[in-house]
Amino acid sequence: MLSYQHAYHAGGPADLHKHIALAELLTLLTRKPRGITYMETHAGRGLYDLASDETAKTGEADEGITKITLPDGPFTDAVKSVRSMHGKTAYPGSPAIAAALLREQDKMQLMELHPAEFKALRVNLEGEASVHRRDGYEGVMAVSPPKPRKGLVLIDPSYEVKDEYLQVADFTRKLMAKWPEATVMIWYPILKAARHKEMLAALQVPHLVDEVSFTLKDNKGMAGSGLALVNAPYGSEAVFSKTREVGAPVLR
Ligand SMILES: C[S@@+](CC[C@H](N)C(=O)[O-])C[C@H]1O[C@@H](n2cnc3c(N)ncnc32)[C@H](O)[C@@H]1O
Repeated sequence: MLSYQHAYHAGGPADLHKHIALAELLTLLTRKPRGITYMETHAGRGLYDLASDETAKTGEADEGITKITLPDGPFTDAVKSVRSMHGKTAYPGSPAIAAALLREQDKMQLMELHPAEFKALRVNLEGEASVHRRDGYEGVMAVSPPKPRKGLVLIDPSYEVKDEYLQVADFTRKLMAKWPEATVMIWYPILKAARHKEMLAALQVPHLVDEVSFTLKDNKGMAGSGLALVNAPYGSEAVFSKTREVGAPVLR
């Protein structure tokens, strides 16, 4: 199902949670000179305009990025970097955050299935990443294990179908068997049905969990956002505490 469009949610509280953690984690993983591979199963278009009709329609950015004061740090660096190139209402998706923080020796592989999102992603990330129009689970599995072998995979689906929770768990277990050095970060929504609990139970691999709560005006039942980190590198707890620090007063 490809009806989901991330532009409606860009810069909202859930994006802040995920993107601050991503920026901190990439900084942690790139402390040593050796290169890393960064991959995404569900990349989106990479770059958003907070002045667009879609973003204005939900108002989520007003309850997220617009509400916070950006302190120094890698997330702020990424936001500033895209705003210097694309104007003050630009907001980086996860691929643009990675592009701002990765180095020459690092590699990036992005999967996006939606034709229009893929087309935009290819333009927005030109020269920064290998961009593939293919199913994210199939695509990441096919190119794993990559070189460099140290790396991070972001799994960020829209969970429009309830089976997706167990699909994520199943995929992660299989990916870890094929690419044991990978760190995997899974984003999930916290909804009334709490299907993420089944997903976390089905992971069956050690992982850290970080959950935040927030209130959205038009929340459609979303009470918060969660991240599960598999094969968490040393220092990951600090990554998660940064989400509260940088995301205050939005993330609780
Ligand atoms: C939540 S958005 C990604 C947001 C992005 N990671 C970010 O933080 O900026 C999910 C994306 O997955 C895409 N998508 C849906 N099903 C897919 C699939 N099976 N494989 C790859 N991409 C898919 C959608 O078109 C959408 O752009």
